[in-house]
Amino acid sequence: MSVRPLIDRLNAEKSLSLAEWRTMLTDYTEDDRQYAAEIARGLSTAVFGNQIYLRGIVEFSNYCKNNCLYCGIRCGNQTVQRYRLTEDEILECCAEGYALGFRTFVLQSGEDSSYFPDRLPETIRRIKQAYPDCAVTLSVGELEFDMLKRLRECGADRYLLRHETADQAHYEMLHPQSMSFAHRMQCLRDLKSLGYQTGAGIMVGSPHQTADCIAKDMLFFTEFQPHMIGIGPFLPAANTPFEKEPVGSYELTLFLLSLCRILLPNVLLPATTALGTIRPDGREQGILSGANVIMPNLSPTAVRKKYMLYDNKICTGEEAAQCIGCLNRRVQKIGYALTFSRGDHPDMQPKTGGTL
Ligand code: 5AD
Ligand code: FES
Repeated sequence: MSVRPLIDRLNAEKSLSLAEWRTMLTDYTEDDRQYAAEIARGLSTAVFGNQIYLRGIVEFSNYCKNNCLYCGIRCGNQTVQRYRLTEDEILECCAEGYALGFRTFVLQSGEDSSYFPDRLPETIRRIKQAYPDCAVTLSVGELEFDMLKRLRECGADRYLLRHETADQAHYEMLHPQSMSFAHRMQCLRDLKSLGYQTGAGIMVGSPHQTADCIAKDMLFFTEFQPHMIGIGPFLPAANTPFEKEPVGSYELTLFLLSLCRILLPNVLLPATTALGTIRPDGREQGILSGANVIMPNLSPTAVRKKYMLYDNKICTGEEAAQCIGCLNRRVQKIGYALTFSRGDHPDMQPKTGGTL
């Protein structure tokens, strides 16, 4: 049975009930998915034109104190060669990125306490001082309110913290007991209250995920109104408890990207590296389903292969410049263009400086 009427109503009212979301996710056909992609693409073009924002990711440490069951760099994975970049090395990555044209730097790491309380705030301060026209996005896991506040005061503009699942029981199947669903959600609320452009998100097809879980994720997005949504397929990582689990559905990932775009037309929505990992043209299809952001890697090539959240990650051998050339060809082929602009959320334009 077609869920087209539900897609139309989502587009008109920007909200559905839990039961309707469940129906949407269990009953959709290939035709519905194409229909949703068409609407989503129209909305993303209306807001962002044919421009795809670029963000440079610096994976500055793969040390992590957590032991998430799905993640390749979980602390229990003793086969990982751990590394940390120094402040100077992080700044060098930004310098290289700036020269290539990047105006957003995403600093990502495991939950590594060695950058706290002072090293990460100091690094952000230095980046913002050197590149006042750039946005700094953090993706460093859960922190307490006071530290989030301090990082914000040092100049961090945005923060990515996928909630992973809005279903508490499911959360507890993906994470060890030492981690708490309530704390993660609190952290997301703190981020928003501190004025960060805040990103949430999920993996599609993570073990034990049901349509009900994703329906709850969609309600969470509706209520929380994130500025960014990170959605990629689950991909098994060797030497983790989930290493033998199946990869998430490519089609469902694309459908969810479209539904997120229809729900939140202004949202910043990346075509993720995980999507490009399960299909050679996954990121292009993500864009054609409503995504408007791509996040190439700026990490030094020497450490790239050590930051493996999942197996077979793409672009671990390429220099950032090579990825830009490759991405340029890819997006042009489907009628889009890369842009290096800061690319703030339409509701969150910086008050001073900034958008050059
Ligand atoms: N497959 C897909 N995505 C993963 N992530 C972590 N491990 C995996 C995996 N095995 C995602 C999580 C995390 C983000 C940084 O990467 O959603 O929040
Ligand atoms: Fe990195 Fe294509 S994007 S090689």
